[in-house]
Amino acid sequence: MYSNIYQANNSNIQKAAQIIKNGGLVAFPTETVYGLGANVYNAKAVASIFEAKGRPAFNPLISHIADINFLNEYVEVDSRAMSLAKHFWPGPFTMVLKRKEHNTSIDLACAGLPTATVRMPNNQIALELIKQSGVPIVAPSANRSQTISPTTAEHVFESLGTRVDMILDGGKCDVGVESTIVDVTGKDVVLLRAGGVALEDIEEFLNEKVIISHGEPDKPSSPGQLLKHYAPNHRFQININEPEDGVFYIGFGQSERADINLSPNGDLNEAAANLFAYMRLADELAGEKGIAMAPIPETGLGLAINDRIRRASYR
Ligand code: TXA
Ligand code: MG
Repeated sequence: MYSNIYQANNSNIQKAAQIIKNGGLVAFPTETVYGLGANVYNAKAVASIFEAKGRPAFNPLISHIADINFLNEYVEVDSRAMSLAKHFWPGPFTMVLKRKEHNTSIDLACAGLPTATVRMPNNQIALELIKQSGVPIVAPSANRSQTISPTTAEHVFESLGTRVDMILDGGKCDVGVESTIVDVTGKDVVLLRAGGVALEDIEEFLNEKVIISHGEPDKPSSPGQLLKHYAPNHRFQININEPEDGVFYIGFGQSERADINLSPNGDLNEAAANLFAYMRLADELAGEKGIAMAPIPETGLGLAINDRIRRASYR
């Protein structure tokens, strides 16, 4: 049934790299979520990402690199950006940087913006694929637009099916929520999306406050996020301590009532890693009363979790 899922061994990574070079689409694991990858320089391939996802074409994509030296090819890197890169990469940390003017071949990947968005994932399969492809790989999460991000190869298949040429199976993603995105083009560092690196860790490293952008959620170009983004099909309520009878309840921390529990010990990292898979499961198992989730503390990865579930609960 899973006709295009391949075990991520060396020979399949080689095949996948060939597909990327030839302008095809490969879904691959990263430490955050699975990405739907294409050659950043091949506009036709980049366009087919938008098509496969059913995503509005004005949404800019993240370029995934395996080597810090790639940065100098198409973005301006000042000393602050370089030190952030050295500290947080490889890892779930993404920077919006100023593009170098001459590099128009990445126009579509950048949705025509004067910025490019880059990260180095902390996943050996992803890094190997990028190296063997010989180009940065642009990759949004490997799911249809406005649905839950995939954290296993099967999730990718369920969402995209054979719209993708090959799905490299590297098991379950460790982090489970997308990368933290910061804009470093201005004087202040601005958080565009909470994610796998905690805001506190960035502030501690920089020794300065990071500005939190609330953006314009209906205009996907700025923080690039639509409110409905992660919506399950069922009614989904958040911050619920005492769910009604019949509601499928996703717990956090100790809970007798929970149908499933993101982390019985109240560990936010574990909760983040389980989040999308459990939301899917809840969507499958819930009845007409829908789904409710326990309150999640607004610290560490809790910021990213709360951001995602607020979007998912938005009607
Ligand atoms: O963890 C991740 O970041 C995953 C894995 C695959 O790396 N990727 C991911 O990509 O989540 P995507 O496309 O689903 O989300 C990236 C978000 C989009 O909402 C996009 O609009 C925003 O980042 N974005 C990208 N470039 C931007 C830019 N130059 N300015 C503002 N927002 C940008
Ligand atoms: Mg996405």
